[in-house]
Amino acid sequence: MASMEGLIGLMNRIQRACTALGDHGGGDLPTLWESLPTIAVVGGQSSGKSSVLESIVGTDFLPRGSGIVTRRPLVLQLHQTDDGSQEYAEFLHMPKTRFTDFARVRQEIADETDRLTGKTKQISPVPIHLSIYSPKVVNLTLVDLPGLTKVAVEGQPESIVQDIENMVRSYVDKPNCIILAISPANQDIATSDAIKLAKEVDPTGERTFGVLTKLDLMDKGTNALDVLEGRAYRLQNPWVGIVNRSQADINRKVDMIAAREKEREYFESSPDYAHLASRMGSEYLAKLLSEHLESVIKARIPSITAVIDKTIDELESELDTIGRAVAADPGAQLYTILDLCRAFDHVFKEHLDGGRSGGDR
Ligand code: GDP
Ligand code: NA
Ligand code: MG
Repeated sequence: MASMEGLIGLMNRIQRACTALGDHGGGDLPTLWESLPTIAVVGGQSSGKSSVLESIVGTDFLPRGSGIVTRRPLVLQLHQTDDGSQEYAEFLHMPKTRFTDFARVRQEIADETDRLTGKTKQISPVPIHLSIYSPKVVNLTLVDLPGLTKVAVEGQPESIVQDIENMVRSYVDKPNCIILAISPANQDIATSDAIKLAKEVDPTGERTFGVLTKLDLMDKGTNALDVLEGRAYRLQNPWVGIVNRSQADINRKVDMIAAREKEREYFESSPDYAHLASRMGSEYLAKLLSEHLESVIKARIPSITAVIDKTIDELESELDTIGRAVAADPGAQLYTILDLCRAFDHVFKEHLDGGRSGGDR
């Protein structure tokens, strides 16, 4: 049986294939896309979403700045490579280009955003797909989304507040979406946009991970133990506290390794949080998410396989209707989809049969 790493890798390939085939959840094969688990990062503007994502990846690569920077969903797939290999990134819309300079990755995200929306403050629901290959990451698929906001700014239509919420909702509504709900510790948790939305779409809290950022910015003499220990707002998964780089750290170009070291020291030396230190911080969060994703994928294999079977049947009958001669054209998209489904189906069934003696299919 292939390793769990292989299983998440397979899931990543399917997601890329779905996008390549024009399936963003509303296309020809919505059921296939919708059956795949993803982790969506949700929170108010400047709550620390980009910072948390960069910490999980371990690399600075996201466009940042005040105001609305993320204007299209960014589907980010992390692939762990063997130690020693150089870290690189690849965009689905530029399949032959390996980016090793992450400042250029950041620029390309901005440029590709503008290609669809123009240099405006408009948003678009069409995702940008980015894969990062690195020895420093765990295998994860994350979706970065525009920050929830309460008012439109100059140059934005009044509808933007609702448009962003709808876009975020279209991801987190799906029962297979794992919600990374980012809330800043220096604001009352009761006012958190992320928790408010998560509560609505996931009332039992089973697929929500509460992430509390900016612990270092809380007023002296106060702490976030009520939240971190699950008394203020209970989720089924444990809350994770985070200390990201401050704006001053970013301006001084404090690198990721130094930032993680500083974060670890923060928790270990804190009189309030030392007893929780092994369950706090960006690295712990990345590990927790990876483990959770693995268990979710494993539990979902039977239903994903069922979707693939159904898709194959539908495509087969569609091919019969339009005639195989037409579809046998190497450029025919239907054929590509069918081949793809067969390949996935085969691998999934191998996983499904994993523990058994095999050969019974
Ligand atoms: P986003 O808008 O949700 O993506 O938020 P960003 O990650 O861009 O962060 C917004 C600002 O808050 C930046 O200036 C960050 O440096 C700062 N920031 C984020 N997290 C923390 C944190 O844990 N501690 C401190 N001191 N600053 C943070
Ligand atoms: Na921001
Ligand atoms: Mg951001």
